[in-house]
Amino acid sequence: MNQQEKASVVILISGGGSNLQAIIDAGLDINLCAVISNKADAGGIQKAQKAGIATHVLNHKEFSSRETFDAALAEIIDQYSPQLVVLSGFMRILTENFVRHYAGKMINIHPSLLPKYQGLNTHQRAIDAGDKEHGASVHFVTEELDGGPIIIQAHVPVNQDDDAETLAARVLVQEHAMFPSVVDWFCHQRLQLTSSGVEFDGTLLDKPKQW
Ligand code: GRF
Repeated sequence: MNQQEKASVVILISGGGSNLQAIIDAGLDINLCAVISNKADAGGIQKAQKAGIATHVLNHKEFSSRETFDAALAEIIDQYSPQLVVLSGFMRILTENFVRHYAGKMINIHPSLLPKYQGLNTHQRAIDAGDKEHGASVHFVTEELDGGPIIIQAHVPVNQDDDAETLAARVLVQEHAMFPSVVDWFCHQRLQLTSSGVEFDGTLLDKPKQW
């Protein structure tokens, strides 16, 4: 396959980019065309540059509203006409218009067993609730924050002596294994969002896949 035939993917980050690195390292048969960060000091920017991927920084603080930031972000993304937009530790709430523009072609990884613990501090919340099990989910992005149809989940045990950091590290290992596969499935037409829900290999999922 030449570059033109491969599915184009744009990845949005805000932080260290360990999931981005996992996607790079997986050596998928895709065209990773750009990484965009809303933070100039995001470690993921260097990871992308090292891998020879185009990078952009769009500082949300320089915009007067979510709408204007999202419009500028979409303008950059659309230069690449990606088949898939990946939110990989992208810590911004997105406007409805933006989300609708990428309906069915934007996925997010979230460090909890959704629908539990949407939003922030998921690991501490799981510990505080006394959960025996925790994990991560990959889902299609819809207007509801962390609420779109779930594709797959990875489960990890919560140990008695865990703090948020040790638990996050255990979850991250699973994120790094699972997320590149989901990107690969989507880019090779094995995964799609239909009006009935998530389809994998032509079959509608009645519950999220388990990693
Ligand atoms: C990950 O747990 C991801 O799920 C979350 O941000 C964390 C950091 O990710 N939303 P990364 O190292 O920047 O990929």
